[in-house]
This record gives sequence, structure tokens and C-alpha cells, in this order.
Amino acid sequence: MKPGRILLSQTQIRSRVRELGRALTRRYRGKNVLVLGVMNGALFFLADLLRSLKLDDAQITCVSLASYTGTKSTGLLRGLDDLGGECLGRRVLIVDDILDTGRTLAALAARLRKLGAAEVKICVLLAKRRRREVPVRADWTGFTIADEFVVGYGLDYNGRYRNLKQVRVLEKFTK
Ligand code: IMP
Ligand code: MG
Repeated sequence: MKPGRILLSQTQIRSRVRELGRALTRRYRGKNVLVLGVMNGALFFLADLLRSLKLDDAQITCVSLASYTGTKSTGLLRGLDDLGGECLGRRVLIVDDILDTGRTLAALAARLRKLGAAEVKICVLLAKRRRREVPVRADWTGFTIADEFVVGYGLDYNGRYRNLKQVRVLEKFTK
């Protein structure tokens, strides 16, 4: 498996991330948002998005969640137990790389509500056009894409290709 066709160029990503940053700035001005980045996939998206957020009172934290092996979701989510009291009474904005089956973000949002978050919203760079296995909607989506496995700009295949500058479709080796 290797990165193939470019789905989203650096320019496309950059301009869409700026638009999202402007929309989020309007929505969260004066609201003391807690931005919760989902590692490792949201690494670049989170950093670029935060650079376009013009909010003096925003706080930032991260959680490491994992459910994938290769190109398949295992259905088991590791890392949720690391979340604690910092969410109590807060407006939380989850920032993640991609919405696929929906299991990760549904479980994370449910956990945040259980921990006493006052509001939970979701911002993803990508959403796959497919039927979610659990009902969950993103409040902000960068791009809606076909149901293909993608890598780059934080997204990995077994830990590889996160550092590609573009989002590319994973291709099978032909040789
Ligand atoms: P979900 O729980 O199936 O919605 O999957 C969410 C997580 O799986 C994402 O946060 C990614 O880390 C990973 N994932 C899903 N689809 C892809 C993909 O196409 N490329 C890389 N990672 C993916
Ligand atoms: Mg992820």
C-alpha cells in the first residue's frame, strides 16, 4: 500500500481551514471554549485551525484515541479513560481528522457529556460519504469525501504517511 492520487492539495486545505477558523471565531467569541484535539490524526489540522482562530480566551487540550488497525476499524476504542475534570461545565469543541463509522466521535461526545461538559460540538477536516454505524453529525466539516482510505495531513496507514502535506488516496502496490 502506498499514497496515490492527491485528493486535497495544500492550497485547498489551507483555504478551507482558514474559512473554518473564521466561522469558529464567530461562534466562540467570548465563550471561553475548550478545544479538544484528538491525537494523533488531528495533529496538523488542529495546529493550522488554531492559527486561524482569533480567540484570546480559548484553551487547548488533547486526548489520544485509537481504533484502527490498517484500513479497518477494530470497534475497540482506547484512550477515553484519560479524560478528566477539565471538561466539567465547559463548552467543548472536539477537533478530529475524519468522521468515518462515527464510533470514535459518538463515544467521545458521550463521555464528555457524562463528565459534565456544558456543550459538545464537533469539527472535522473530513467526513466520508457513507452510512454511519452510529448516529453522529459534525457541526463543522472541512470536506465531504468518497468512502476511500486516505492518508496525509495527519492521517495514517499503520502509523505511516501522516507527514504528507496533501491528503492522498491510499493505493495498493502494483509492483
Ligand atoms: P470512526 O470511529 O470509524 O468514525 O473512525 C474515526 C477514526 O478512524 C479517525 O479519527 C481516524 O483516526 C481513523 N480513520 C478513519 N478513516 C480513515 C482514513 O481513511 N484514513 C486514516 N484514518 C482513518
Ligand atoms: Mg482519529
